[in-house]
Amino acid sequence: MRVAVTGATGRMGREVIDAAREAGHEPLPVSHSATGETGGTEVHPADGFATLLSEREPDATIDFTLPDPSVSYVADCAEAGVPAVVGTTGFSEAQLAALREAAERIPVLQAANFARGVQGLLAVVREAVAALPEYDVEVTETHHNGKRDAPSGTANRVLDAIDQTRGDSSRVHGREGEAPREDGEIGVHARRAGDITGEHEVLLAGNHEELRLTHRAGSRGVFAAGAVEAAEWLAGRPPGWYDFSDTLPDTES
Ligand SMILES: NC(=O)c1ccc[n+]([C@@H]2O[C@H](COP(=O)([O-])OP(=O)(O)OC[C@H]3O[C@@H](n4cnc5c(N)ncnc54)[C@H](OP(=O)(O)O)[C@@H]3O)[C@@H](O)[C@H]2O)c1
Repeated sequence: MRVAVTGATGRMGREVIDAAREAGHEPLPVSHSATGETGGTEVHPADGFATLLSEREPDATIDFTLPDPSVSYVADCAEAGVPAVVGTTGFSEAQLAALREAAERIPVLQAANFARGVQGLLAVVREAVAALPEYDVEVTETHHNGKRDAPSGTANRVLDAIDQTRGDSSRVHGREGEAPREDGEIGVHARRAGDITGEHEVLLAGNHEELRLTHRAGSRGVFAAGAVEAAEWLAGRPPGWYDFSDTLPDTES
C-alpha cells in the first residue's frame, strides 16, 4: 500500500512513517516545514499535496497535524478520492463538520486514540458507570508538555461514554477557590509534564471504596501502528464516517 503521511516531521508523523515501513507499505511523507528526505524517502511539500495525491495515487492518507491543516488535507483527499485516517485532535464543531462533509465523498476514519487498550477502557468504563450509578466520577489525563489541546480527545471520548450511560452530566474542568462538588458533576483534570506519552484514569468513588480504571500508552508507536492498521482497513471502503472501534472485532463505539 502507498500511504501519504502528513505532518511528517511531527512526533506522530515520524512514528507513522516508521510503522508504515514496518508493515511493508510505502510512505509518502508530506511536510509544511521540511524538505529533503527522511530515512531515504523524499519529503513532499504540503503546498503540493493535491498534486501528490493525483500523481502518486496513494491508497490512503494518515494525518496527525493540527485541526486547520488537517481539515485542509482531508479536503484535498476528498477532491482526489483518497481515504483519510485522521489522528489529529482538538477540532471545533465547525472543523468536525468539514471533516464529515468530506466523508460524504471519501471514507474518513477519525479517532482520538489509536491504542486498542483505549477501546477496552471505554467498554469497561460504560459497564462500571452503569453498575455504580451513585458513585462520583473524576477523569484525569496526563500528557507530555508539548500537547496543545486539553482535555485530550481521548478524555472527551471517555466523558461521552459516561454520558451515554448516565445521561448528560455537567463537566467541571479543574477546581479553584470555593468549589464544592455538586451531585452528578464530573471533574476533568489535564496534567502536562515531561515526555509522558498518554495516560487516562477514570476514578469512581463512593460507599467508602474506590475503583480506578487506567490506561497508559507505553510509546507513540502504539498509536502509529493502530493508525496504519486503520488505513489498511479503510482503503477500498465506501465513503462514510468511521471510528477506530469499527476496525476492531466485538467492540462498540
Ligand atoms: N489519535 C491518536 O492516537 C493520537 C496520538 C497522539 C497524538 N495525537 C494527536 O495528533 C496530533 C499531532 O500530535 P504530535 O504530538 O505529533 O504533534 P507535533 O509533534 O506538534 O506534530 C504536528 C505536526 O503538524 C505539522 N504542522 C504544524 N503546523 C502546521 C501547519 N500550519 N500546516 C501544516 N502542517 C502543520 C508539523 O509537521 P510538518 O512541519 O512536517 O508538516 C508538525 O510537526 C495532535 O492533535 C495530537 O493530539 C493523536
